[in-house]
Amino acid sequence: MGSELGSFGPAIVRVRATIRRYPTFDRAALRPSGPPPTLGLMCGIVGYVGRRPALEVILEGLRRLEYRGYDSAGVAVLDGHGKLAVERKAGQLRNLEAQLARLDARSFEGSTGMGHTRWATHGGPTDRNAHPHTDSAGMLAVVHNGIIENFAPLRAELEASGIELASDTDTEAAAHLVALAYSGARPATGAAGASATAGDLAASVRAVCRRLQGAFTLVFTHADQPDLIVAARRSSPLVLGLGDGETFLASDVAAFIEHTRDAVELGQDQVVTITRDGYQVTDLDGEPVAVTPFRVTWDLAAAEKGGHDYFMLKEIEEQPSAIANTLRGHLTDRRIVLDEQRLTDTDLRDVDKVFVVACGTAYHSGLLAKYAIEHWTRLPCEVELASEFRYRDPVLDRQTLVMAISQSGETMDTLEAVRHAKQQKARVLAVCNTNGAQIPRESDAVLYTHAGPEIGVAATKTFTSQIAATYLVGLALAQARGTKYPDEVAREFAELETMPDAVAAALDGVGAARELARELASSRAVLFLGRHVGYPVALEGALKLKELAYMHAEAFAAGELKHGPIALIEEGLPVVVVMPSPKGRAVLHAKLLSNIQEITARGARTVVIAEEGDETIRPFAHHLLEVPAVPTLLQPLVSAVPLQVLAAEIARARGYDVDKPRNLAKSVTVE
Ligand code: F6R
Repeated sequence: MGSELGSFGPAIVRVRATIRRYPTFDRAALRPSGPPPTLGLMCGIVGYVGRRPALEVILEGLRRLEYRGYDSAGVAVLDGHGKLAVERKAGQLRNLEAQLARLDARSFEGSTGMGHTRWATHGGPTDRNAHPHTDSAGMLAVVHNGIIENFAPLRAELEASGIELASDTDTEAAAHLVALAYSGARPATGAAGASATAGDLAASVRAVCRRLQGAFTLVFTHADQPDLIVAARRSSPLVLGLGDGETFLASDVAAFIEHTRDAVELGQDQVVTITRDGYQVTDLDGEPVAVTPFRVTWDLAAAEKGGHDYFMLKEIEEQPSAIANTLRGHLTDRRIVLDEQRLTDTDLRDVDKVFVVACGTAYHSGLLAKYAIEHWTRLPCEVELASEFRYRDPVLDRQTLVMAISQSGETMDTLEAVRHAKQQKARVLAVCNTNGAQIPRESDAVLYTHAGPEIGVAATKTFTSQIAATYLVGLALAQARGTKYPDEVAREFAELETMPDAVAAALDGVGAARELARELASSRAVLFLGRHVGYPVALEGALKLKELAYMHAEAFAAGELKHGPIALIEEGLPVVVVMPSPKGRAVLHAKLLSNIQEITARGARTVVIAEEGDETIRPFAHHLLEVPAVPTLLQPLVSAVPLQVLAAEIARARGYDVDKPRNLAKSVTVE
């Protein structure tokens, strides 16, 4: 720890006079005892059978699931007398609600129904492609989350048997196939024994699901079966909520925890029948399957805005507690302990190379992990975009540790990278924010970030929590390999523990970023510069601005300026510069100071993120955003904060919804 590189050094965080209290959590309680959720494609699904007006329950559930996709929304309600009412609308849920308000409310009376909020894959985001889809008779409705990969031959088969398809989706095929099976008809090249499914919705669903390839949660209702919903899942999430005289199903417990905390997770290739009195689960052959209910322990407030206009703003403010919760309990008897460690100390000791795979913001946290891991462990650490990883020929073997970072644990690119790594016999450790998601399930070990649910589509609190978690991995490796003494490990951990306060102080100082946002809102483009750990922070700042404010934003390692990007500098162009500490990284600080002068001379308007007390920068910054002074490796935790606020406020000033940026969804589970 002698070098200035990454040395935590003495704690120089300016600790605030007030004592902050962060909500505590019970690590064990956070982990549901039942089978965990699995891979989900985008889209949110809600189903309800009970005694209350289904429409209200469904719309409320959809509001909580809109983060999963918001290209269109739709509902289907059974009136109990053989009538199925369906309404769907392109755009956000509020469009559907406005449309429903114009209709006769009586047509949507009924206590069985389902809803869907879509992230479009097959078929554009139009009314006609919105779910639910129905069969030709309008008796059966289906909502779907996932991709039916063999949709083309299935659609062709249906068309050959004279069925007119009303949408461009893969989903609609499932509606017609199940309706045919239910009616006892045998489609042209359909499943053997289709007639045996006549009048039996669950048997019809099972028969059709056996023919489907791909990933799906499919939920069906039929007008003949007013108090029944049948659902099936493969590689896409589906959880049941067990109420008193009512049963829910949804892509995420957030949809129903207001009503019940008793839940059941469905496993792979399982089919469930729900009624108001309960549920029955089978495999695709109809064999009963035992499932274990679990209790959801986080409360509704965690999934609500808590007085903020946007989830994202609330989540930015939650970063101190997210980091504190991520660190809590990981140092016991001066030893770092990870969560589910299915790797032995010998495995960790034998590691001779680390690969980090991740996407987007998680990739940026991986870039930061490299600095800590290489510094503390002296192991080479490569960081790779998960989407690129398996398409080249990465050199992996038993001694390679692959760290897969994913907030959702569902990202398909990262999951495929994990699978590739496992095929090559590498050890895989997941860093994930979602209990029991597919990536941790398929990994050898998992370390959870305890950031709580992140609803805003842009990652904020999970980014800083990922930094904290990956640093824990670095310390665990250093400990296992003996590159650090136990008291050094404990000291580094203690430094990390000061970060919730430092981040809280950074949050207290974001007023200047808010004001600046109004000024920058009319800019066409913004450049970001950083060096060392400031470079991934610059990348993250640019990503936030792109996705939220739809502005051209690009980040460069400041040393690269002279190799090309400086040609972009023109009069009035805003350039955000993430400065290193003048004390901790004096040499780099001087170099960045020169860069600032170079770009200012060419007309750039500089926005400088610098440590409090850095007086040398003041004369050269058009705008100065100060953050608390912290050790070098920890600086990203504080310097990310004003950049998150800046992006969110610029987006708001431009009139955009920061929780639901266009074209995006929270879980990206298509390659
Ligand atoms: C950006 C953002 C995305 C995600 C990326 C990976 O704000 O949220 O770039 O970081 O899609 O998602 P996870 O972490 O769920 O694998």
